[in-house]
Amino acid sequence: MALLKIARMGHPVLAQRAEEVADPTAPEVRSLVEDMIETMHDAHGVGLAAPQVHVPLRIVVFMPPDAPEEDPVLALVNPRHEILTDERVEGWEGCLSVPGLQGLVPRAPRVSYVGTTPDGTEVSRTVDGYHAVVVQHEFDHLDGILYPQRMTDMRHLVFSSERHWRVDEDET
Ligand code: NI
Repeated sequence: MALLKIARMGHPVLAQRAEEVADPTAPEVRSLVEDMIETMHDAHGVGLAAPQVHVPLRIVVFMPPDAPEEDPVLALVNPRHEILTDERVEGWEGCLSVPGLQGLVPRAPRVSYVGTTPDGTEVSRTVDGYHAVVVQHEFDHLDGILYPQRMTDMRHLVFSSERHWRVDEDET
């Protein structure tokens, strides 16, 4: 296991479309996923995509809010999602590749997603709310999109240390 260096906004690896993984169950995938999970926990994140650790492959790890305590992280290879509503709800997001900042981002409150775990299990879920937001944020990384690009009003991109001025608004 190893801590990986996290790419920050401006590095080209964060702006490109990541490649499909030929074999989700390959040992190198499992090893990368273990390092991504360690890196995510070390950085106090709730999700991490492979491009954020300079690996342009379609792999994400994240913490589903309803995950069992003994197995809190879901790793997905070649994931896809579908937005199930025209509705958009604004919530605050941060990103390990955009350190120190938070932004108010409109997201669909309901999505379905599929993907393969490193042990070959096919996952298929329909989720709401915060879970749906995390999925959209992490999967966006695989298409070279960072959350500020999803924002509609840049006045709501702020330093985390100034967020207390906005205590009236919900945290996601
Ligand atoms: Ni992110």
